[in-house]
Amino acid sequence: MNEEQRLASQQVKQPKTSEAKAEKDYSKYFEKVFTAPSLKDAKKRGKEDIKYHKDFAIDEQFLRMGEGRKFYIRTYGCQMNEHDTEVMAGIFMQLGYESTEDIESADVVLLNTCAIRENAENKVFGELGFLVKYKRKNPEMLIGVCGCMSQEESVVNKILKTYPHVDMVFGTHNIHRLPNILQEAYMSKEMVIEVWSKEGDVIENLPKKRLGSIKAWVNIMYGCDKFCTYCIVPYTRGKERSRRPEEIIAEVRELAAQGYKEIMLLGQNVNAYGKDFEDLHYRLGDLMDELRKIDIPRIRFTTSHPRDFDDQLIEVLAQGGNLVEHIHLPVQSGSNDVLKIMARKYTREHFLQLVDKIKVAMPNVALTTDIIVGYPNETEEQFQETLELYREVGFEMAFTYIYSPREGTPAAKMVDNVPEEVKKQRLQRLNAVVAEFSSAALKQLEGEVVEVLVEGSSKRRDDVLAGYTRKNRLVNFEGPTELVGKLVKVKVIEAKSHSLMGEFIEQVKEKVELV
Ligand code: SAH
Ligand code: SF4
Ligand code: F3S
Repeated sequence: MNEEQRLASQQVKQPKTSEAKAEKDYSKYFEKVFTAPSLKDAKKRGKEDIKYHKDFAIDEQFLRMGEGRKFYIRTYGCQMNEHDTEVMAGIFMQLGYESTEDIESADVVLLNTCAIRENAENKVFGELGFLVKYKRKNPEMLIGVCGCMSQEESVVNKILKTYPHVDMVFGTHNIHRLPNILQEAYMSKEMVIEVWSKEGDVIENLPKKRLGSIKAWVNIMYGCDKFCTYCIVPYTRGKERSRRPEEIIAEVRELAAQGYKEIMLLGQNVNAYGKDFEDLHYRLGDLMDELRKIDIPRIRFTTSHPRDFDDQLIEVLAQGGNLVEHIHLPVQSGSNDVLKIMARKYTREHFLQLVDKIKVAMPNVALTTDIIVGYPNETEEQFQETLELYREVGFEMAFTYIYSPREGTPAAKMVDNVPEEVKKQRLQRLNAVVAEFSSAALKQLEGEVVEVLVEGSSKRRDDVLAGYTRKNRLVNFEGPTELVGKLVKVKVIEAKSHSLMGEFIEQVKEKVELV
C-alpha cells in the first residue's frame, strides 16, 4: 500500500449519525475508527520527502458526474483559501458541473472555511445552521465543509454532533480528491469524512477556474513551519513546501499571455520559499529576479515573515519594474517580551533594522502590517511599545486583531488574563493610529499622478471607475468602461478616508521596462 492508498483507506464512512450521537465522547469514537483529523499528527515535521504529483488528472469514471448539476462555494479566510476555491471550481467544471451564484439552486454547496480566529469559525457555524433550511427544501442537495476548520478534530466532532445535514467534510490536503469524495457522498447516506493530517504534498496540473481576468493568484509554496505560538495555520496547512521554480514561471508566463495584468504570489511565509529544495539553492530573491523579466505589469507577494527576509530579496525588489513597491510585513507586536512568547524569532530591533534596510534600498516603499493586541499577559507598557513601533516605521495600513485562543496551540494553554474590555480599548487605540497614518499617506498623494489598474466600475455609477495603485490604494475616477482591465495614469484630486478621488489623464503604455 503506498502512502496515498493508506491515507485513502482512512476515509471511513461514519455510522448513521444517530448512532454517532449515542456516543458521548466523539474523540474516542474517532480513535476507534480512523486516525484523522488530528492536530497532533498535523504538528509533526518528519524527515520524509515531500511528494510531487505532476500529473493530476480526473479519473474517467467521474467525468460526467456533474451533468445537469450546479455548485456553489462560499469562501472564508485568506487569499490561499480563495485560490483553493478556484481549484475546486476548476475540478467541478471538469466534472461537468455549472457554477451558480444562487445558493438555493445549487446541487452542491461547499463552505471553504478559515480557522484563524474564533469569530471566523462562528460565522461558518452560523451559516451551517442556516443551510438546514435549503436542505429541507431540497434533500438531494450535498453540503460540504472544507478548508482549515475541517483539519480540527473539535470542529469535525461538532459537525457530527450538531450539523447532521452536512454530507461531507474534507481537509486542505484532500482538495484533489474532490471527485472521489463527491462520489462517496452521492452513494452514501452517511457523512463522508476525509481529512488527512499529514505534512502535505505538492500537486501540479490541478485545474483552476479563476474568478477574475485582471488579477490572478499563484501559489509559490504551501504550509508553514514557523509555529508562532498563537497560530493554527501550521497545523491546518502542513509543512513548508515549495513549488518548483519552472512550474511557477510557466504559470505566470501563461497568465501574462492570457492578458492578466497583476499576479499575487501566495504563501503563508513566502520568504521561506526554496528552503526545502535539496537539489538546488534557489530562494525568493532568485524567483522574483526571473519573474521580473516576464512581460506582465505587476507582481506582488504575500505574506512575508520578517525573519527570512534576506538582502538578496531586497536587492531584487529595489529594481522595481513589475515588482511593486509595497511590502506587507506582519510585525504582530512591538514588545520584545511579547514577540518572544509569540515565538516570532525576531526582536523589535531586528525588525526595525530590516525596515531601515528596505527603506534605504526602496525609498518609495509602502509598508503594511498585521498586529495582534491583548496577547496573554500583554501589559499597557508592552502595548504602547507596539504603538511606538507603528509610528516609528510609519506603516501605511494594518490589519489589526484581538488575540483569539486556538485550541491545540501553545498560547491557548496560557492564562488569558487581559480583560476583554482592555483588549477592545487597545484595538480601538491602535486603529486610531492606523487611521491617522493611512489618511496621512493618502493626503500626501493629493496632486500627484498615480498608476491605476482599473478593475471595474462603481456599483452606483457606470462611469465611475475603480482600481488600485501599485501600493494597493483604491482610486475612483470618471472614465469610460473600456478602460476596465487597463493601466491608466490618474491625477489625485482628493484623499478620502479610505480611498482617493482622481482625474483620468491617459492610458499607460504596457511594456515592462527592464532595469
Ligand atoms: N502567514 C502570515 C499570517 C497569516 S494569518 C504571517 O505570518 O504573516 C494572518 C494574521 O492573522 C496574522 O498575521 C496574525 O496577525 C493574525 N492571527 C493569526 N492567528 C491569530 C490568533 N490566534 N488570534 C488573533 N489573530 C491571529
Ligand atoms: Fe501563522 Fe506564524 Fe506561520 Fe504566519 S508565520 S502562518 S502567523 S505560524
Ligand atoms: Fe484562515 Fe487557513 Fe487562511 S486558517 S487565514 S484560511 S490558511
